[in-house]
Amino acid sequence: MKNIVNLDDLSLDEINDLIDEALAFKNGKVVDYQQKKVVANLFFEPSTRTHYSFDMAAGNLGCRTQNFEASNSSLKKGETLYDTCKLFESIGCDALVIRHSDDDYYKQLTALNVPILNAGDGKGNHPSQSLLDLMTIKEEFGHFEGLKVVIVGDILHSRVAHSNYNVMQRLGMSVYTSGPLEYKQEGYNYVDFDEVIEDMDIVMLLRVQHERHQGDENFSKEKYHQIYGLSLERYNRMKDTAIIMHPAPINRDVEIKDELVESEKSRIFTQMRNGVFVRMAMIHKVLEDE
Ligand code: CP
Repeated sequence: MKNIVNLDDLSLDEINDLIDEALAFKNGKVVDYQQKKVVANLFFEPSTRTHYSFDMAAGNLGCRTQNFEASNSSLKKGETLYDTCKLFESIGCDALVIRHSDDDYYKQLTALNVPILNAGDGKGNHPSQSLLDLMTIKEEFGHFEGLKVVIVGDILHSRVAHSNYNVMQRLGMSVYTSGPLEYKQEGYNYVDFDEVIEDMDIVMLLRVQHERHQGDENFSKEKYHQIYGLSLERYNRMKDTAIIMHPAPINRDVEIKDELVESEKSRIFTQMRNGVFVRMAMIHKVLEDE
């Protein structure tokens, strides 16, 4: 496998193998490249979780890392995405972890001779987030088939929603979306959050992606929470076995009530922890297939 840029390109066997390897890493599996491999973290768009958990994952595998600082780089002199990535290939990096604000940015990079791990492309895809979400679901329920998930929020601008919608359906889950109508994605199964919450196994909340809007939001934070947020009242209507997920960063008291972020049903920090193991599996996969 040269690149992992979109889960639609992977078979279900390949996806399940990555999740199982991540679970094995969590259970103590060791791979040690003894500082002989170098992973470059190239974040052209802000990130905290994805960047630092890819960095942690590479370190756990005994790889060295190069952490590109976009704000203090030759991008400022007009260097292109391709030429920046070609530099990291040329100086000896063995894999490139890339986040960029352009949808499908990786289509500009097909001439590179180094594996790419997509850490998020615009509103397109976020495969490592989907894989850590799936790992968290598998740990919780032991299977995917038949589970019901509602993804609530700014679906239209969310690469997390776009990655998860397809792969969860492929794995046999029933996937629903909800949130402001102006952020509805055409072709997706849209429902009223209040009508389905009692029947869901997973409530996945998303942040409103203000950075991808033109300041056109027509609701206050309070109004958003009241209409679309996970309030205490809605929490109390969830199934006993249901869980809350959120890719984070979180806007507390907007998409989720502050005190629910670390509640019994929340798996938000488990998702973050699992992110390291999933990214270890992804890095290991592309380095082994080089
Ligand atoms: N979930 C996620 O992608 O978070 P970051 O933007 O902090 O990487």
